[in-house]
Amino acid sequence: MGDEEAGLCGQVLNKCVDPSSQQKKPLFYSLFQLLLLLCLFFGILGYSMISSSIWQSIPLHHQSQRSFQWISQVGQDNPELEEETKKFLKTTAKPIVPASAPPEGIQYHEGYPTNYRFLIDHKDVCKTNNPFLVLITPAAPKNVRARNVIRQTWGNETLVQDKVVVHLFVLGLPGGSDAEEVQKSLNEENLQHQDLIQSNFVDTYHNLTIKTMVLMHWLATRCPKAAYVMKIDTDMLLSVENLLTMLQRPNIPKTNYLTGYIMRNIPVVRSMNSKWYVSEEMYPENTYPPYPLGTAYLLSNDLPAKFVEISKSVNYCTVEDAYIGMCMKKLELSILQPPDPSQFRVYHFKYNRCQFSKFITYNVISPDELEKFWTDLKRPEPPCPEKKPEDASNEKNNKD
Ligand SMILES: *[C@@H]1O[C@H](CO)[C@@H](O)[C@H](O)[C@H]1NC(C)=O
Ligand SMILES: *[C@@H]1O[C@H](CO)[C@@H](O)[C@H](O)[C@H]1NC(C)=O
Repeated sequence: MGDEEAGLCGQVLNKCVDPSSQQKKPLFYSLFQLLLLLCLFFGILGYSMISSSIWQSIPLHHQSQRSFQWISQVGQDNPELEEETKKFLKTTAKPIVPASAPPEGIQYHEGYPTNYRFLIDHKDVCKTNNPFLVLITPAAPKNVRARNVIRQTWGNETLVQDKVVVHLFVLGLPGGSDAEEVQKSLNEENLQHQDLIQSNFVDTYHNLTIKTMVLMHWLATRCPKAAYVMKIDTDMLLSVENLLTMLQRPNIPKTNYLTGYIMRNIPVVRSMNSKWYVSEEMYPENTYPPYPLGTAYLLSNDLPAKFVEISKSVNYCTVEDAYIGMCMKKLELSILQPPDPSQFRVYHFKYNRCQFSKFITYNVISPDELEKFWTDLKRPEPPCPEKKPEDASNEKNNKD
């Protein structure tokens, strides 16, 4: 590697500047170089965002596209996240697998959850609280800011309409050279908030199906008595209030119930350069079975155990939400539309307090945006212009 660099340096620059002559350069010259490098970096970033925006027309990519935008946007003023962006762009980068990686001899397939074990666990959180609803959020180890904002907003709603709600984050092992430091801070974060569940697979984009199955295993074994579960990502705004109102409607099924934003006839990506590439060996058909978009879906809590069991006979596939669709198909169950599908918002659009007050889920661009919308929605003033009874009758009279 060192030799290669020297050779390249010799070819491209003709000569390699020796360190002593470099120090004599005026300060503005190095600043200019830095600026050039920065321009190049954001240029490439911008280009890759434009080229990947072609994919936006295909719904499958929407979810991942969103997370990508989040990382790159937040990354611009946060050096730590910028580092993450770089890693994210380097799809070939391999995380350093810590010594505690899963043992050899994988059972069933890579996604089967008992291949892994919990490093941080809260075995009794459901026994102690007896929740009606569990909110469970897959999170990236380094995404502390997003977790903190969720803790201050919808993750802090523990008693709504007399129902107990529990919220937890699920993560894998941090990868990369700073894994040890990140793990230390995760341990501290958990000590403070008691809301992290960590399993010993390496937390990368390609391991999201493992994360989902580990989360299902956790629910099935630690929380079997809760009535419902929502799996919801960090970049979402959730109205726990509206969700509970929906769940208490008389005709909501108590078992075999899975709902959310339903994806249908989504083609499998066969382009090997794509992040969403799935080989024919992994999944032979051309389209995925119907599945709930992974950003936020709701399930009756009998399903996690069924997913874990049926997944023994469902081939591993790296697209985590599509994998849930495959499990549903194998179980011969169908995904149902929510009573009001417009309440499950996954696409980002302009904030409107009255409209937003009716949603159950909504996608946000950043933790700051989540905080801002949340604060605004929680203002005491009614979100929609109230019609006084006289006005309403006047209107009626006028129409008549
Ligand atoms: C959660 O809400 C309670 C009040 O219900 C408040 O005391 C607490 O500080 C909040 N926690 C966070 C992390 O904001
Ligand atoms: C997780 O993903 C990485 C690559 O993204 C891979 O090297 C690793 O083996 C995967 N599995 C586990 C169990 O960590």
